[in-house]
Amino acid sequence: MHIIFQLKKLTKYIAVFCPYPVKDFIKRYFGGGTFLSQVEFHLVDHCNLNCACCNHFTPVTPEHFFKIEDIVSDFKKLKKIFDNIGKIFILGGEPLLHPDITKLFEPLRKIYPKSEIVIITNGILLDEMDENFWNALAEYNIALSMTKYPIKVDYEKQLKKCDKLGIKSYFFNNPRFRMKKMNLDPDGRSDKNCTFNKCSERKCHFLRDSKLYVCTAIPNIPFLNRHFNLNFEITKNDYIDLDKTKSATKINSIFNHPVDFCRYCNEGEDEFVDYAISKKELGEWVKIDSSQN
Ligand SMILES: C[S@@+](CC[C@H](N)C(=O)[O-])C[C@H]1O[C@@H](n2cnc3c(N)ncnc32)[C@H](O)[C@@H]1O
Ligand code: SF4
Ligand code: SF4
Repeated sequence: MHIIFQLKKLTKYIAVFCPYPVKDFIKRYFGGGTFLSQVEFHLVDHCNLNCACCNHFTPVTPEHFFKIEDIVSDFKKLKKIFDNIGKIFILGGEPLLHPDITKLFEPLRKIYPKSEIVIITNGILLDEMDENFWNALAEYNIALSMTKYPIKVDYEKQLKKCDKLGIKSYFFNNPRFRMKKMNLDPDGRSDKNCTFNKCSERKCHFLRDSKLYVCTAIPNIPFLNRHFNLNFEITKNDYIDLDKTKSATKINSIFNHPVDFCRYCNEGEDEFVDYAISKKELGEWVKIDSSQN
């Protein structure tokens, strides 16, 4: 009993007083390693579909292809901080638009051998993917998650193909497809503790240009700003610069609290709309009563 009490006291002491590098050391050598639950990133910013309310703002995003070597280099930086990552999501825009997507699988799998690596796709290009792509999915254990949009794609056929080739595959959404409106407040009047606590995106950490963000909204907001001439601000507290912050425990601790950007998010009830093609209207993303429309 006495030992348990002393151990509890020691754990509490470590949690409160230990500097981050010491906590990382303890995790590495006594706690199974440093860990990030999930990270996602864009292979391209643009898309071949145009979904209203896309929460990556893709309908108003210009074409951009990331270099595979830059993504690999960012994952090498992450590896120096996090020994393991639970889930890695390869996204866009539409990731299959990247002509070199297959070249990413081997290096990414080498860096994170135990992670669940998943491509999320609208499936439109799956029939055009070459044999190398399919073989590499199987070889490097990359899963295919298809978002089942109400469009002309035979998703069931693709599932069967994956089964045959030994590739993990599944559907990301249910058949009655609905999109959540972000209802952002450009005046930033929301209570950030409130928006953060009810946020379903706060575990969707996002890697872009050697920076790690708590969620996908922040790194992609410049596209919305540019298209609609808005001024959602990103502050230095809204992201982690991987060239400066090297502590896993510190990063996880930052991601457990609201960031400045949370003041722009929707405080009210979540609102869902039926799937539609985007008209690139501000109201798809911004609370219209308080917007500058
Ligand atoms: C941004 S997309 C990128 C990958 C690919 N283009 C796709 O759609 O599958 C990733 C996932 O986010 C979902 N998503 C995007 N905006 C959403 C919204 N407003 N509400 C609900 N899900 C959304 C998409 O349906 C998709 O499953
Ligand atoms: S949600 Fe739609 S518009 Fe957005 S990236 Fe996916 S397919 Fe493209
Ligand atoms: S800024 Fe905060 S509240 Fe908004 S999506 Fe990101 S984590 Fe959630």
